[in-house]
Amino acid sequence: MKTIGVALVGCGGITLQNHLPGLALCAETKVVALCDADSVTLERARQQTGVSVVSTDFNEIVKRDDVHAVIIATPNSVHPPIAIAAARHGKHVLCEKPLALNYADAKAMADEADKAGVRHMTAFTYRFVPAMRYLHHLISRGDAGKIYHYRSCRLQDWGTRGLGWRQRKALAGTGEIGDMLSHRIDFARHLVSEFKRLVSSLVNHTPVRDGQANDTDDWVGLLAEFENGATGVMESSKLASGVNESMRSPDRVEINGSEASFSFTTGCWNELQYGKVGGPGMKALPIPREFYVLPGSPRDPSVGDPLVSFRYDQAIEFIHAIREQRSCSITLHDGARAQAVIDAAVNSANTGAWVKI
Ligand SMILES: NC(=O)c1ccc[n+]([C@@H]2O[C@H](COP(=O)([O-])OP(=O)(O)OC[C@H]3O[C@@H](n4cnc5c(N)ncnc54)[C@H](O)[C@@H]3O)[C@@H](O)[C@H]2O)c1
Repeated sequence: MKTIGVALVGCGGITLQNHLPGLALCAETKVVALCDADSVTLERARQQTGVSVVSTDFNEIVKRDDVHAVIIATPNSVHPPIAIAAARHGKHVLCEKPLALNYADAKAMADEADKAGVRHMTAFTYRFVPAMRYLHHLISRGDAGKIYHYRSCRLQDWGTRGLGWRQRKALAGTGEIGDMLSHRIDFARHLVSEFKRLVSSLVNHTPVRDGQANDTDDWVGLLAEFENGATGVMESSKLASGVNESMRSPDRVEINGSEASFSFTTGCWNELQYGKVGGPGMKALPIPREFYVLPGSPRDPSVGDPLVSFRYDQAIEFIHAIREQRSCSITLHDGARAQAVIDAAVNSANTGAWVKI
């Protein structure tokens, strides 16, 4: 395969902000087809990209011979049928997070992709933040020693504005936990170990947003134990008034180990905080330049807003994995395991009990 033909299914926010510019950096890769259930959105994407093959039906798109890979960026409820149809037609799959509305569906997506022998990936985009890749490098090298605690806190000020499909459980599955905490659940698995058990609370403070019913959580708190004995505390909110939002609001991850503590704030893409056991406190640890982009990425880290452009390395990883015929660094199984944690948190919030993963 010389040129990799990619179809985009779902042409809304994240496709325009992330997938299209990421693919534009990939050598010998072409967007050959677009799909969106909404004809106005589809027409806008057609005009913006100049891609002439368009359909409102993903079944028409995933069966095309010129499509080798499918990127799925629709509301969460329709990820599974699209991913499974694409895999069954032998297409490589990159799917947005959270993968599905429950673990069984997410696992079925990963299993179907394995069965079809295609490359598959979950869009846990924040793994590509340079500071996160450096933190993973240091932790794997043992610099933190034995890990005692994992802590993550994601706060945004979204007020009571409307969230569209994101405020409907039937389409989104969950609210804040799937939308925002899913990335931090993935960090925990990536940096610490698999979750063993957890207890959680999911709260809906805004049953009406912009005049429409909201049946999803806008705050989540979670206490966890990991397989390796570490403990974790995680919080995420859309209602932290006044703290700003997106990459400009607090998004902190901290690891405390027997040798050192490290913390990471997404807004500081090129710096960690580091403190040695018994030392005077945390201080800045700059990220070495070789971590500024994914190895092999053609991206120039001095071009564009670094709080946005790191995201483009995700498409590069997907396309490189296809070319090199290797697993993607974050597979659909990673997305499914994060989904198992989300399911356990929902179960715990409903019963008030600790839940084993
Ligand atoms: N990885 C990240 O950092 C990140 C960031 C934002 C969004 N996301 C995820 O990306 C996905 C999309 O989010 P978004 O913000 O782009 O939403 P969006 O609402 O802006 O876009 C979704 C698009 O999917 C279309 N759609 C709905 N049903 C469809 C179907 N059956 N077939 C084809 N198209 C369909 C809608 O018409 C819409 O245009 C979600 O799963 C979300 O959680 C991930």
